[in-house]
Amino acid sequence: MKDGTKEDYMLLRELEKPYHALTADRILDELRRQGEASLEGYPITRLDHGLQAATRAERDGADLDWIVGALLHDIGDGLAPQNHDRFSAEVIRPFVRWDVAWVVEHHGIFQMLYYAHHYGWDENARERFRDHPCFDSCAEFCERWDQSSFDPDYDPKPLAHFEPMVREVFARKAYDPEVLREGYVSRLTAA
Ligand SMILES: [Fe+2]
Ligand SMILES: [Fe+2]
Repeated sequence: MKDGTKEDYMLLRELEKPYHALTADRILDELRRQGEASLEGYPITRLDHGLQAATRAERDGADLDWIVGALLHDIGDGLAPQNHDRFSAEVIRPFVRWDVAWVVEHHGIFQMLYYAHHYGWDENARERFRDHPCFDSCAEFCERWDQSSFDPDYDPKPLAHFEPMVREVFARKAYDPEVLREGYVSRLTAA
């Protein structure tokens, strides 16, 4: 890299544009992959889990950022199974409201409420975030859309339904303050 010229780097910057434009396609490919190879033991695939979560969010009247956040909250499962929540949050962080990214980043700890006691772990580990402005949002996200979305009898909308939403979100300008709305805590559901 030291030996690159200004012309080289100008060329690379140009080539990054079409590459960035294909991010949504790579995200959708990863979701499809999660429908083929998925964690054993669960009644549905990770793709179906994401589709259920996103469908529940949409049926609750959630906005675009929450729906896409629900769809992609476990997108990191394949490459980062030990810290998938943080990985998933980093995937969406430049393109969604900050509270959605925060909730996705922390959903793993909040989900412990539902199962940690079976392993002798602290199901209330989330309490360390009690004073955070997004605490209630994360608790609600997990209760309404995550822990409930392993139901083999639920009828989620197909990936094709959410594809335009993924494309819209990933076509946004990265880290646009008007998208991120740092500090604003939104409602998950329609009033
Ligand atoms: Fe998760
Ligand atoms: Fe999940």
